[in-house]
Amino acid sequence: MEKKRIGFDLLIFQHEDELSQKEQKLLSAAVQARESAYAPYSRFKVGAAVLLENGETVMGSNQENASYPSGLCAERVAVFQAGARFPGVAIVSIAITAASEGHQVDVPAAPCGNCRQSIIEYEQKQKSPISIVLKGEKGPIYKCSSLADILPLAFNSSFLGDS
Ligand code: THU
Repeated sequence: MEKKRIGFDLLIFQHEDELSQKEQKLLSAAVQARESAYAPYSRFKVGAAVLLENGETVMGSNQENASYPSGLCAERVAVFQAGARFPGVAIVSIAITAASEGHQVDVPAAPCGNCRQSIIEYEQKQKSPISIVLKGEKGPIYKCSSLADILPLAFNSSFLGDS
């Protein structure tokens, strides 16, 4: 039997000015995107901003539906839009921020499992890491350097074989 521990470095910042200029700008774009959330059911608004290798920023917010499962998370709205508007252009980073009308979100909300799987598809395809910057309405900022860090042992296209 072999035992293997899988871990990663989570960077925790107390202030936005500890981030790079690019990351600060991306986080601001995510906060702006959050305002466009359509979240009448959960009242939980999420904004995401994706930075592409060509310098473009693509934003997304959660879009809910009266038929709950038909809604989509902010992260997937953003990355799918990036893929559709700029096919083949690598994603460098994604910033995500969440706010609730019911309580103050003071810890970063991490992306759900479906969003992690959706984003890691692009990381695997482009063969370069996508960093993740997370923030609530207030409180600390978390940064991870790769999707693979937060989705270890991920499913990927190699399992599907040659077809
Ligand atoms: N949500 C996101 O936009 N991203 C996530 O990673 C988790 C949850 C949205 C979906 C739904 O509109 C609301 O937050 C409550 O789950």
